[in-house]
Amino acid sequence: MEQGKKIKIQDVTLRDGNQALKKPWDLDQKKEVFDLLIELQVDGIEVGFPSSNQTEFEATKTLAKRAPRGLPIAALSRANRSEIERTWEALSYADTPRLHIVFPVSAFSIKHVLHMSEEQVLTRIVDTVAFARSIVGTRGEVQFSGEHFGDAFENFDFATECFLASIQSGADIINLPNTVERYRPFLFVDMVKKVADRIGNQVTVSVHTHNDLGMATATSVECAYVGATQIEVALNGLGERAGNTNLYETALALHQNGESIGIRFDRIYPTAKRISELTGIPIGEKTPIIGADIFSHRSGIHQDGVAKTKSMQKGAYRTFSPEFVGRNDSETISFTNQSGHKAIQFILESKGLEVTQGLVQVLFEQAKSISTKEGNREITESELVSWAKHQLIVI
Ligand code: KIV
Ligand code: ZN
Repeated sequence: MEQGKKIKIQDVTLRDGNQALKKPWDLDQKKEVFDLLIELQVDGIEVGFPSSNQTEFEATKTLAKRAPRGLPIAALSRANRSEIERTWEALSYADTPRLHIVFPVSAFSIKHVLHMSEEQVLTRIVDTVAFARSIVGTRGEVQFSGEHFGDAFENFDFATECFLASIQSGADIINLPNTVERYRPFLFVDMVKKVADRIGNQVTVSVHTHNDLGMATATSVECAYVGATQIEVALNGLGERAGNTNLYETALALHQNGESIGIRFDRIYPTAKRISELTGIPIGEKTPIIGADIFSHRSGIHQDGVAKTKSMQKGAYRTFSPEFVGRNDSETISFTNQSGHKAIQFILESKGLEVTQGLVQVLFEQAKSISTKEGNREITESELVSWAKHQLIVI
């Protein structure tokens, strides 16, 4: 990353995340999510799509008023003057408003969805961005998103021209979306690099990726190394279809690679849990960072490495600690028929029991045989501890 450039985490949960929920949030729920985002200390929040319905309008207005001074508050609008006016009506209550305009730029969408010529598309972008600039004035920012940019292979030069025209018309931020993830991350990252190189430091280059193929985090993280300085993300990876880029994964990946990210990492886990309650969408056991089972070790080789590096900052099989992301659990070693002697020793020692190699051997055989007999089930810590105590009394 270029010296002195900080990556901004722009959250879109309340807009892109909310629009994809089976039951979109009401005003009180939106307020609660907004407050969670403030506590998490994201760099900016997109609060809604006010021209889409009255609830969104009221929510945008309320959250705009609720926003702390200096925090960019965005609201999305389609590229037409009346919706832009309506958006501004709700958004202008924010101390630092950001009017966000979206219009498609890929050849496919222009031909099959818009039924317009490229010239008409360009005229619309220029007209609406300039209009937004004129009403926002110096009070706030204007962001332009070229929807389906990631699909604009055949007309890449035209898509680039759309972004350049939006800058000339007054956009402060250009947002490059991978609206539908269809291809390799490298292809999108390369397109972002070409646009960012062309634009230089004129305005902020932002990316917004979706997770249709499960590569949104990787794609967005790499974009930070080719010129993007804003990444649009969502809590719990909420969003249309397979979701938006996951906030936790993106922020942590960048942090682990030495980038300075301003969020409060210790708020990740409590936030994720609450968002799961507020959406009714459970957190998968194996979900990175927040899944219940991600700090468990069951194979003998891994357990040996974990035991040997337990108290070190870098663990043989641990990339970050549970407490760093606000969890109050810890790395666990549990016993299955895949486990080794080290598992037994680790579990007993962590319970303060004095362990001899003889005891470990006896318990290892007992645990392995019961696990195998009972359908390869996991042997719990409390079973091992009670067997160990029994053995210690017998001995
Ligand atoms: O996915 C998308 O293209 C969007 C835009 C509004 C940025 O959500
Ligand atoms: Zn989106």
